Amino acid sequence: MVGTRPNMMKIAPIAAELGRRADEFEHVLVHTGQHYDREMSEIFLEELGVGEPDYSLGVGSGSHAQQTAAVMERLEPVLLEAEPDVVLVPGDVNSTLAAALTAAKLLLPIGHVEAGLRSFDRTMPEEINRIVADQFSRLLFIHSPEARDNLLAEGCPEAGIHDVGNTMIDSLVAMRDRIDAAAAPEKHGLSAGEYLVVTLHRPALVDGPLLAEAMSQLAALSEALPIVFPVHPRTRAALEALAIDLDRDRLKLLDPIGYVEFLSLVASSAGVLTDSGGIQEETTYLGLPCFTLRSNTERPVTVSMGTNTLLGLDPARIAEVPSLLEAARKKEARIPPLWDGKASERIAEVLASALDEPVEQLGQALG
Ligand code: UD1
Repeated sequence: MVGTRPNMMKIAPIAAELGRRADEFEHVLVHTGQHYDREMSEIFLEELGVGEPDYSLGVGSGSHAQQTAAVMERLEPVLLEAEPDVVLVPGDVNSTLAAALTAAKLLLPIGHVEAGLRSFDRTMPEEINRIVADQFSRLLFIHSPEARDNLLAEGCPEAGIHDVGNTMIDSLVAMRDRIDAAAAPEKHGLSAGEYLVVTLHRPALVDGPLLAEAMSQLAALSEALPIVFPVHPRTRAALEALAIDLDRDRLKLLDPIGYVEFLSLVASSAGVLTDSGGIQEETTYLGLPCFTLRSNTERPVTVSMGTNTLLGLDPARIAEVPSLLEAARKKEARIPPLWDGKASERIAEVLASALDEPVEQLGQALG
């Protein structure tokens, strides 16, 4: 199942691996349509080589309840028809929650890719989605050490936890040559190592008064450091509602861009300012400074081991980015264990042995 932009990078390498082992696995890809603009959706499936989904549910936008209900209503007949042995759900978006609930009600075993992440902040919709998906999943695929502790603390059985590594990093490794060849900075008139990439899209930041402050801080910062900011549709709508139009030579506001172009911009940047989850991981893998404009992170390994710095939900701190960049360059950072491009292979191995179990044990192992 995929629903949103970040889901694509988490599932694409698993789909590719299952495809390579077609004598053992048959897989069906369901796209809920939570994201539907080409730049938020199809472009990723194309670039990552996944191809057309087998089912497109076309749920689109709506309130949390509407979106969740629409996915459940439309996914149920698909699962009844496909009769899968396992339903794989990635990440923490509304489609993840809805797919997990639907499969759980049909007594279908669930595998959660990116299990165990916790911000411990239930005002984040994603936190609720993660907790529910993990509670109903019997295969919990984790990619950082604290995920195991979080799952055990919530009573998830240890036998279901599989430390497989990070499938989002699998996508990055698989696409690395294309990313390096894309030369996106030149296309946008930017010099390698001399600009900041910005992404902001979370409701806590963009759906309230903090957005205007963040934009004026970015405008001031761009005098010292050019900025490129691909703008999420949610953020674009908020900027329009506030009548903020700051697009200028040194603060470039772009429409959403594809995976290869985005990571090409990131890979050659001086650093990234973001409120995204996945970008904290990608920058840690690339060894690039990341400044996270949030009060917490469900990905603490990117701070303790990687290149991430939590700034808090405080746009005033954007002014500190030049000095923080200096400090970040001196920080010793490492790539977390198993973020090596092989997570999908490990997931396929776990699936193969789980599916090999005799039917009565499969029930215990999976659901
Ligand atoms: C969703 C996820 C969030 C994830 C983000 C990645 C939830 C609760 N949130 O947030 O965790 O970080 O995806 O992007 O699931 N829109 C478009 N075109 C699209 C998609 C959205 O214009 O293709 C606009 C619509 O106005 C929509 C709004 O963006 O109402 C928000 O979309 P939605 O999918 O509800 O949440 P995101 O903010 O994208």
